[in-house]
Amino acid sequence: MSIPLLQVNDLKKHFPVKKGLFGRQTEFVYAVDGVSFEIARGETLSLVGESGCGKSTVGRAILRLFDVTSGQVILDGQRIDDALPSTMRQMRRRVQVVFQDPFSSLNPRMRIRDILAEPIRNFGLAKSAIDLETRVTALMDTVRLPREALNRRPHEFSGGQRQRIGIARALAAEPELIVCDEAVSALDVSVKAQIVNLLQDLQREFGLALLFISHDLAIVEHMTHRVAVMYLGKIVEVAPRREIFAAPRHPYTKALLSAVPLPDPGAKRNPIILGGDVPSPINPPSGCRFHTRCPYVFDRCRTEEPQLRSTEGEQWVACHLDALPAE
Ligand SMILES: Nc1ncnc2c1ncn2[C@@H]1O[C@H](COP(=O)(O)OP(=O)(O)OP(=O)(O)O)[C@@H](O)[C@H]1O
Ligand SMILES: [Mg+2]
Repeated sequence: MSIPLLQVNDLKKHFPVKKGLFGRQTEFVYAVDGVSFEIARGETLSLVGESGCGKSTVGRAILRLFDVTSGQVILDGQRIDDALPSTMRQMRRRVQVVFQDPFSSLNPRMRIRDILAEPIRNFGLAKSAIDLETRVTALMDTVRLPREALNRRPHEFSGGQRQRIGIARALAAEPELIVCDEAVSALDVSVKAQIVNLLQDLQREFGLALLFISHDLAIVEHMTHRVAVMYLGKIVEVAPRREIFAAPRHPYTKALLSAVPLPDPGAKRNPIILGGDVPSPINPPSGCRFHTRCPYVFDRCRTEEPQLRSTEGEQWVACHLDALPAE
């Protein structure tokens, strides 16, 4: 069996924060607290969950935008969480990112030509000046933008076009994995669908793997291979798209998905409203972190943390219940 493109093993990221009047004491935000998953080549894994559950922190750990607290991030068999700068250079090329707001990540003074040429130069991908120009124009074709636009600057484009530029810049590095952190969240519905379709086309064309971070479950349902659901720094369920949308196993997943509109406007899911607020990641609940809001809570949930276990086939769930009670 070939190794997965990406393996994340028991990843933890605890952010220190100062507390008290003079900030002398330190406490920790348990943003990501023991997360494990894999992504195969050419696969899309979506990371979903409410705001603050740790999705972006997982993405940033994979991009190695900071040092992790513990755990491993392994790309194609090689650890990147503790890689030396020399190894990291190649690793950085292989994992690229597309953020929510392309405008903030595109230098407003640079022309598109230079924005796209930069990663090609940085990673030494072009053999000559002609090769560089060929690559830059090819990228415009790939993301379906007119070549004339190469001489323009980011502010001259619409939101959807800027996101195409962000994608082209990511592709310039010839990555194997792209982390899309809320990459389509700020776009209008129709533009959103176009960008998602583009990502899917590119995935097929280049065999790209995607970590698709999103709170938009309707989009996720439309395009992902698998889904990982996070709650307070943990993955509570991970499963193929069809299985998880048809029969969620975790009470939190069930509540989260119950709010997603069905494609047929006549049909409706029964939305489940969870009581209480999401607890603070500074002081997460004991046992199962979801126990304070779970409609099916029992004693064991308050003391013993459930581990991810396989239920059927590829569906993994971290819950003490053998099955969700029927409605
Ligand atoms: N640099 C930091 N210092 C301290 N706390 C942080 C830092 N970055 C993130 N956090 C905290 O870690 C937790 C997880 O944040 P994260 O951005 O990963 O969530 P998210 O799931 O991406 O949320 P959203 O859907 O709003 O983007 C939050 O409580 C957040 O406040
Ligand atoms: Mg985020």
